[in-house]
Amino acid sequence: MIISGNNPLHVQQAAEALCAGDLLGLPTETVYGLAADASNEKAVAKIFEAKGRPSNHPLIVHVATAEAVNRFVSEVPDFAIQLMTQFWPGPLTLILPRRPDQAAAAAGGQNSVGVRCPSHPVALAVLNACAAKGVWGVAAPSANLFGRVSPTSAAHVQSEFGDALLILDGGECDVGIESTIVDCTRGVPVLLRPGQISRMQIEQACGLKLVSPESLDSEAPRASGTLASHYAPSAKVRLMSSADWHKALLALGPHTQNLALWSQEKPAEELKGAGLFWRAMPVSADQAAHDLFSVLRDFDARGVRTIWIETPPDTPEWEGVRDRLNRAAA
Ligand code: TXA
Ligand code: MG
Repeated sequence: MIISGNNPLHVQQAAEALCAGDLLGLPTETVYGLAADASNEKAVAKIFEAKGRPSNHPLIVHVATAEAVNRFVSEVPDFAIQLMTQFWPGPLTLILPRRPDQAAAAAGGQNSVGVRCPSHPVALAVLNACAAKGVWGVAAPSANLFGRVSPTSAAHVQSEFGDALLILDGGECDVGIESTIVDCTRGVPVLLRPGQISRMQIEQACGLKLVSPESLDSEAPRASGTLASHYAPSAKVRLMSSADWHKALLALGPHTQNLALWSQEKPAEELKGAGLFWRAMPVSADQAAHDLFSVLRDFDARGVRTIWIETPPDTPEWEGVRDRLNRAAA
């Protein structure tokens, strides 16, 4: 059932559901989350079950304030404090050492925990209402079945989990791709997942160079969003240069069938077969991130079998989108 994030009574109802151990479709500025009380083991188990996600894949704990982090985390290095000060509330998740007696199930049993304070006003309203009832953290992975495309609207969440799930409608997500994740447990900041907040912004905020996980020899923490194949629609996705899709369309001629193209340049009418769906890829990276998952879902809904996507520019602001596209195509 979808209820309105603009209605304070519905926000209260959503918080009560979480405090009672139920699941909730929660809007955030990045993507919708499938939320549960992070300290309630049974509630957290429902998330893993509903998503079909292995229970050792850790979840992010969402908090209303930076202070609430101390309830879950044993130690916060200075550079992590600088990152929180600069980017919270906002689309940044920090991995920090976990208090051994807190949120073990949500953390997938790891001795670290991911924490994030989202900026979406409806998410903050829910988190504050939960905190007022003594629930300080809300675990929420993206509200999609394991390995599938993340949801950026209440309708997307409903199409994943059906009408039985309570979903708080907060409109379309602004950012559109998941939060940037920085591991702060290794003495230096390590970028686990790129997002709207860029490498450069993080390095400037904390005055340290970001390290990539490959350059560390110890075993990297499990992160399903970092598996090679993820964010995959049902159709096959292929990344192609503009020259390559032009050539391939020419070769297909009028026989194009069940094919979709997401590109900055519009294909010429004579290149468009009857069965080609085209959507414009925005020239702004932020706008492309905003559109990405809903474009993939829209193509899937049209029964397309193949999706061609123009390889985005190789510039820093496109890193988050490039990362999701590479995984969708893997
Ligand atoms: O924007 C977002 O981060 C969204 C919204 C709902 O907040 N959430 C999200 O959650 O993307 P999820 O579960 O789909 O992705 C979280 C990623 C996973 O790849 C998970 O493995 C990683 O964060 N993660 C969480 N806790 C971790 C930990 N302790 N160590 C390493 N990775 C962790
Ligand atoms: Mg996810």
